[in-house]
Amino acid sequence: MIVCSCNVIARQQIEAVVTEFLERDEWQLITAGMVYHAMHKRGKCCSCFPRVIDVIVRVSEEFHRRRQTPEAEIVPFVARLRSEHERCETARALARERRLRRAA
Ligand code: FES
Repeated sequence: MIVCSCNVIARQQIEAVVTEFLERDEWQLITAGMVYHAMHKRGKCCSCFPRVIDVIVRVSEEFHRRRQTPEAEIVPFVARLRSEHERCETARALARERRLRRAA
């Protein structure tokens, strides 16, 4: 399934990159920008970022469950991951809105 139509990136490609990041550091907060940078791609319209974030969160959670990380560590990690992504998405949406207002 294609997640990013601008760069023609499939969900499986994103999953593989996220897993590589987690194998290097299982507690790092992976961003869509980090994933695209690792793939030598960049966000163009960036409308795919919410879907990329969903993949990052799901793969991170599954990674820790496979490793039998204690639930008490997974839950706050996933919550922190979601919170950080929401913060970034809000900032991105506000910046986009400002750009559109300036252009109008
Ligand atoms: S759909 Fe991914 S950058 Fe446009």
